[in-house]
Amino acid sequence: MLNFEFSAPTKLVFGRDTHKQIGERLKPYAKKVLLHYGGQSIKKSGLYDQVVASLKASGVSFVELGGVVPNPRVSLVREGVAICRKENVDLILAVGGGSVIDSAKTIAIGHYYDGDVWDFFTGKAVPTKALPVATILTLPAAGSEVSDSSVISDDANQQKLSCGGECMSPIISVMNPELFMTLPKNQIANGVADMMSHIFERYFTNTLQTDVTDGLCETLLKTIMKNALIVIDDPKNYDAWCEVGFAGSLAHNNLVGLGREQDWACHMMEHELSAIYDIAHGAGLAILTPNWMKYVYKTNIGMFVQFATNVMGVEGSFRTPDAIVLEGIARLSEFFNKMGLPATLRDVGIDEKNLDLMAKKSTGVAYGQTESPLGGLKPLAWQDVKEIMKLSL
Ligand code: NZQ
Ligand code: ZN
Repeated sequence: MLNFEFSAPTKLVFGRDTHKQIGERLKPYAKKVLLHYGGQSIKKSGLYDQVVASLKASGVSFVELGGVVPNPRVSLVREGVAICRKENVDLILAVGGGSVIDSAKTIAIGHYYDGDVWDFFTGKAVPTKALPVATILTLPAAGSEVSDSSVISDDANQQKLSCGGECMSPIISVMNPELFMTLPKNQIANGVADMMSHIFERYFTNTLQTDVTDGLCETLLKTIMKNALIVIDDPKNYDAWCEVGFAGSLAHNNLVGLGREQDWACHMMEHELSAIYDIAHGAGLAILTPNWMKYVYKTNIGMFVQFATNVMGVEGSFRTPDAIVLEGIARLSEFFNKMGLPATLRDVGIDEKNLDLMAKKSTGVAYGQTESPLGGLKPLAWQDVKEIMKLSL
């Protein structure tokens, strides 16, 4: 096990009706908040009215900025920064999924920065100070409600980049699993693929002696798969949503990645797909992950045998480790298929055209930089990335 430090600075408030207390919860921190949200979903469900009622009842005033889109744009972030400065906002309340929360976190760091907020994503600036952010989660997926990072897109340059810093962790995140009951099936499936990937990125490692976090990862993965199959058919099932939602946050507050080298190649590859094709993050991960596994498993076959047996339940007459691993990967693909997720890049409208470009962007080569191979388990050069993308066509 490697050395580590851990803190989980976000207070997680979990359970039925918890969002209705948001005004009282924010009152100690803010006189005025920016209420930040996406499209119509929170208005259709009645959540918007409940949040506004709670803020008003507690005497917390607010200005609002809606319109965050999936793969959130830096242009709206810039608008948000201007509003917070003009209106003397004390805190940003994000009501939505990962995109809204990421947009809020980025407005929060932009608030105290003199230059352009995109500098945080290109590495020109490092986030050290931010307005406090609170969240009401409506989609368990990205884990942004407990993470210290954000992922933002710049359409103009077809880039989707991330940045992070301790100051970006939300101070409070409210999770009422009842709010997930309005999600359409494709968003449920995308969210499940994303939270599973957050575990895979940490689980598949060359670090030895990691029993605690191996076990946590395996339990979370099994819990997510079992309960995801319930909510995809019965989206009103509160108990199953509790399991999926809680597991989604534990998947990405880094608890399960402690003391082990992490991978993250699939995430880096996926961001290139979303940057050009604007596809859902979870869908891209569901397509790439089984192919990444097939491409890299021989580097550490023991890790993948463990996954196949402990997580995917492979047992019986498989005479070689390769056969066990391939059966485990096949079962994962079958699970994604049951969730209605796409299996190939062509399923989401992506062909060969930009594979070279995306592979070179992901490793920095496209920008004339020294190549940074992707992934901890088996470092991938741009040609490897291209091969995995080709396997995914
Ligand atoms: O815009 P509205 O109308 O609200 O609709 C949203 C949106 O279209 C809808 N939705 C959300 N909650 C709903 C609902 N519809 C009905 N009922 C509800 N309760 O779902 C759509 C997708 O929302 P989005 O926020 O884009 O999805 P998600 O939570 O999957 O977030 C994806 C983003 O998070 C980033 C991804 O890259 C992607 O941009 N990530 C952020 C991370 C982080 N900050 O730590 C880590 C992740 O790896 C990920 O990269
Ligand atoms: Zn993700």
